Amino acid sequence: MEFHHPIVAAPMAGGPSSTALARAVASTGAMGFLGGGGKSAAQLVEDYRSVADAGRVGVNLFVPDAANTAVDPVASRAQRTEKLAAFREKLLPFAQRLGVELPTLEEAGANVLGDWDAKIKAASQWPIVSFTFGLPGPAVFEGLQESGSQVGVTVTSVVEARNAVDHGADFLVVQGPEAGGHRSVHDPLAVPEDIPLLELLAAVDDVVDVPFVAAGGIVTPEQVHEVQEYGAAAASVGTALLLSDEAGTNPVHRHMLQEDRSGTTRLTRVFSGRVSRSLVNELMELDAPAAYPEVNALTVPIKRAAAQLMDPRSTHLFAGTGYLHARTGPAADIVRWLAGEEA
Ligand SMILES: Cc1cc2nc3c(=O)[nH]c(=O)nc-3n(C[C@H](O)[C@H](O)[C@H](O)COP(=O)(O)O)c2cc1C
Repeated sequence: MEFHHPIVAAPMAGGPSSTALARAVASTGAMGFLGGGGKSAAQLVEDYRSVADAGRVGVNLFVPDAANTAVDPVASRAQRTEKLAAFREKLLPFAQRLGVELPTLEEAGANVLGDWDAKIKAASQWPIVSFTFGLPGPAVFEGLQESGSQVGVTVTSVVEARNAVDHGADFLVVQGPEAGGHRSVHDPLAVPEDIPLLELLAAVDDVVDVPFVAAGGIVTPEQVHEVQEYGAAAASVGTALLLSDEAGTNPVHRHMLQEDRSGTTRLTRVFSGRVSRSLVNELMELDAPAAYPEVNALTVPIKRAAAQLMDPRSTHLFAGTGYLHARTGPAADIVRWLAGEEA
């Protein structure tokens, strides 16, 4: 796997990674990405078809717990049954305020696998596929590689990096704690490690021999250069593109990224059950169990209604630690600036 350009557009599911953003990024020679989380396999196939001629575009898939070799099924079930009911109760005042119904626990627990099998089948048509949230079994890697796909895994620790390479990863995305959105910790019950990105890059560089890209808090050309000095083949930038013209970032998210000048972001499980980094809001005062995707299913009506009403109090406002540096304008200009090609 080769990276011919210093920038990768990090996958950002839930809107920001639009097909327009992938096209714009790929048009510069950098790598665009589609985010498959929350999308059906059929939609993703259609999205990829519409960008396939644009240049290099990868597709990112969330690994459900049932397909994740890093999950202990017994421990994971205990968490779910004990704590989801209490969490649903705590959400009721938010639902009432917004006039929405919450799913029952049964509804929230249905279809936890999503259409994983259909996505893996479709993925054999995509040249670059990356996995987040876990490590599928070696058979998934072998199947994709036999059909010519290059397979990447997002890792947040040295141990995860080693395991991913042992399972056959062609490349890694090394994600530091500075990253906006979800941390890709493989064991959903684990407390995410707090080793800063540069330190993590150096440690991963010592133990793996596949190429890796760096993600987390990278928002300036100087930082892009720095991660390359630490062994990264490219910088994977998410937050830096959230305000670009082509990103599908929703209006309340866009507004708050520009309005909230505190510079403060925080980690929470409240939006999905997985740990994510967001601007700080009221919903984040609640504790949520480590139960993805059930927590996500329970909070969807609240997050969606709040976003529609431009109410920043109870929708996710994902942002990396460097969000104050995010620029507006065409994505291609931002990518060229980050790559050091233009002032
Ligand atoms: C709005 C948003 C959505 C994200 N969605 C995904 C996703 O679907 N898949 C994924 O692997 N990472 C996702 N991430 C994490 C990014 O891929 C990347 O690791 C992160 O943005 C890097 O940190 P930065 O935001 O400081 O650049 C998301 C990040 C953000 C900000």
